[in-house]
Amino acid sequence: MRNRPLPMTRPTVGLPEQVTIYEVGPRDGLQNESAVVPVAVKAAFLDRLADAGLAVLEATSFVHPKWVPQLADASELLSVVERRAGIDYPVLVPNERGLDRALEAGVGHIAIFASATETFANRNLNRTLDEQFAMFAPVVERARAEGLRVRGYISMCFGDPWEGAVEPKQVAAVGRRLVEMGCGQLSLGDTIGTGTPGHVDAVIDACVADGVPLGQLAVHFHDTYGQALSNTLAALRKGVTTVDASAGGLGGCPYAESATGNLATEDLVWMLDGLGIEHGVDLDALVATSVWMAQQLGRPSPSRVVRALAG
Ligand code: HMG
Ligand code: MG
Repeated sequence: MRNRPLPMTRPTVGLPEQVTIYEVGPRDGLQNESAVVPVAVKAAFLDRLADAGLAVLEATSFVHPKWVPQLADASELLSVVERRAGIDYPVLVPNERGLDRALEAGVGHIAIFASATETFANRNLNRTLDEQFAMFAPVVERARAEGLRVRGYISMCFGDPWEGAVEPKQVAAVGRRLVEMGCGQLSLGDTIGTGTPGHVDAVIDACVADGVPLGQLAVHFHDTYGQALSNTLAALRKGVTTVDASAGGLGGCPYAESATGNLATEDLVWMLDGLGIEHGVDLDALVATSVWMAQQLGRPSPSRVVRALAG
């Protein structure tokens, strides 16, 4: 991997100087694998991502183990992985039972995950759109009282496979309720990857117009239609500074038809390097990690950058 190609760094006006990469590979990536990855491999994945400089690692999910068997070992994983100082290990939590389990595991940061649409709330959470807030409210309240940080995801912000188009103001209304509930960060999910850059502008504008502070927004793009990177650039131009990505482009949602991998962290890092935006990640170490993970999973990484550099 010596003498590898490098993007030419050409800073562009109107973009942030620094971006926080919120790595979701261990959670979003592995929840969608048909095989259950052994705990030791998950722990090694987290260690290698930390070694590569990623400072936020969404480690696992405390959801119902029958709903996502791939992550049923959440408590065991957190008991074996070395949680390093200075690295944040958020976990997904849908309800109070999940919060109990997360607190027992000593987590400091949770993410609840709402839906912008009725159908997906039903399919992913077994709740109506309104009922999801009743499920989350006590979770957020208790988590904050325990001193935990709370992120709120919204899924289907850019389209829903059952309902079709989703109005930006519908996304904003869900976002405002999550922020009012006490979520410190709001991640806008393009669960099925149908968004395009102008649509990203519209959703961010609608959220901000509805009172969601821009500084609390993050973006979470799946790359089904190859739009994740251009959508990320649109969000950066709007001033968003937290971007979710998944090492090697792993990812998807078992409860969303046509959801494929997330924006690959390597593809994001390549673009940020070219734009002169700080991110703190060692690309070579990250590519080596994704190549190793692809071997564990028995199939090549879908990331363009991994494929280009792995040879
Ligand atoms: P439910 O069946 O309605 O649960 O599922 P319930 O509240 O009726 O409880 C039924 C039983 O399950 C009870 O046990 C509970 O204790 C138990 P019983 O009293 O009958 O013996 N239970 C649990 N056990 C362990 N851990 C728990 C838990 N909760 C209940 N947390 C529920 C409701 C929300 C739990 C279920 O629908 C669920 O787990 N859904 C999760 C689905 C999921 O993980 N999807 C993928 C993540 S979201 C995503 O990928 C999108 C994202 O990436 C953003 C984007 O891309 O857009 C974030
Ligand atoms: Mg996702």
